[in-house]
Amino acid sequence: MNRISVTLDEPIAQINPNIYGHFAEHLGSCIYEGIWVGEDSPIPNDGGIRTDVVRAMKKIKPPIVRWPGGCFADDYHWEDGIGPRAERPRRVNIWWGDVIEPNAFGTHEFVRFCRMIGAEPYFCGNVGSGTPRELRDWVEYCNFTGDSTLAARRAANGSPEPFNVRYWSVGNENWGCGGSFCPEDYGAEYKRFATFLRDWGTPLFLIACGPSGNDPEWTRRFFTKIGKYSRIHGFSAHYYCGTAGTATEYTEAQWYELIARSLKMEGLIAQQRAIMDGFDPGRKIGLIVDEWGTWHPTVVGRNPSFLWQQNTMRDALVAAATLDIFNRNADKVIMGNIAQTINVLQAMILTDGDKMVTTPTYHVYDMYQSHQGGTCVRAFFESEAITFTAGGKEERIFGLDGSASVKGSELTLTVVNPHATDAVEAEVVFRGGSARSGSVTVLTDQDIHAHNTFDAPDAVRPVASAATIEGNSWRYTFAPASVTAIKVQLG
Ligand code: AHR
Repeated sequence: MNRISVTLDEPIAQINPNIYGHFAEHLGSCIYEGIWVGEDSPIPNDGGIRTDVVRAMKKIKPPIVRWPGGCFADDYHWEDGIGPRAERPRRVNIWWGDVIEPNAFGTHEFVRFCRMIGAEPYFCGNVGSGTPRELRDWVEYCNFTGDSTLAARRAANGSPEPFNVRYWSVGNENWGCGGSFCPEDYGAEYKRFATFLRDWGTPLFLIACGPSGNDPEWTRRFFTKIGKYSRIHGFSAHYYCGTAGTATEYTEAQWYELIARSLKMEGLIAQQRAIMDGFDPGRKIGLIVDEWGTWHPTVVGRNPSFLWQQNTMRDALVAAATLDIFNRNADKVIMGNIAQTINVLQAMILTDGDKMVTTPTYHVYDMYQSHQGGTCVRAFFESEAITFTAGGKEERIFGLDGSASVKGSELTLTVVNPHATDAVEAEVVFRGGSARSGSVTVLTDQDIHAHNTFDAPDAVRPVASAATIEGNSWRYTFAPASVTAIKVQLG
């Protein structure tokens, strides 16, 4: 018999809500069309920001949004995006198709968007083509409350109150698009930039660029270089699991292959944290993954630089399995930002003119939101592994996996069944407590390629499932190719 044992008396750590974070870059139609349509648009908006998108994002309780890039951040000069919109300069977006960046969406617009959806803004600073002075001035512009010229400019631009932006990263992917630095040179730049970023009113949370994937060298050499330098609070790796097949066309083996590849996140977290522990045994510096997700091939007929992709049940399982990994490693990872919010890569939302659709990945974020801030407790998943062939090699993936967290008297247990065709029955056992009642929500489809379109926006959506959840042992049958969220009132 397959078994899920939830040990309520074995807490791992509190799940930082920021694990459920997002990322929005000036790339393709993420910002322009996805968020910003302008006040004069026929698309319903509040001061230029789409109201349908705000409504949808608010529902999944986004804790934090990273902006303005990505690669775009290291070529972004924040002063281009303030002041009267008609006077803002038009620049070339060198990373994403050489399109014109009108700068209509800048600091004020982004902070307003964050406030509208209830998220904290996270600014990614420019190291590659910027200066310590430019970044230091951006912090002053946003956070200073005294009588400085920059604070007065902020007030003149409509915000007398400071923005109190807490999260700032010193560059993005500085081993690549952020300046092609080696870890030692970036370490030196990190210290030079961070030294000038001040805690005006708001204590800053400063984030350094970590490796591409699970590269131990970058991490070791960066931390060796910065030595005892203490103005660092976070260190962020990026991991894209890529694709197998295309976004919507894949074989059953490719379905498993991509989900299996997303599970490498667990090893990345364990190894990166272990290296960091060698330099920072007290874990004062948090491990972050501020870009992650699927990355499918370009769709014919769309601009290849815009990274637009569809989002199917397979993306939903990748998202769920990754969020379960983050939850289980709540003692090691403090923030995760899926790439990207709207119309780019593994998006929550797709738009087409005035139409908007939420994706299967969005529904996972909705179903998992009660994990935010809960205490992750240890859960053991015993199930028969699934075997599949990828690249001529036989590989294995779990039969059932997930995570459990407790908030007050409510337990959230989320479970992924990756089996493409078979339901899996399991006994769920609680140790250290028992269930008074419970409810179940399931995201599944008979077709592993199922996705939402503008014509069928609810083709994939979570549905309630009947189940008797009582006592400290009960059975549940997990649908094939599914994500299940079980909310239990503990008695
Ligand atoms: O998310 C798209 C791009 O992927 C980002 O701009 C960059 O940081 C990463 O390589």
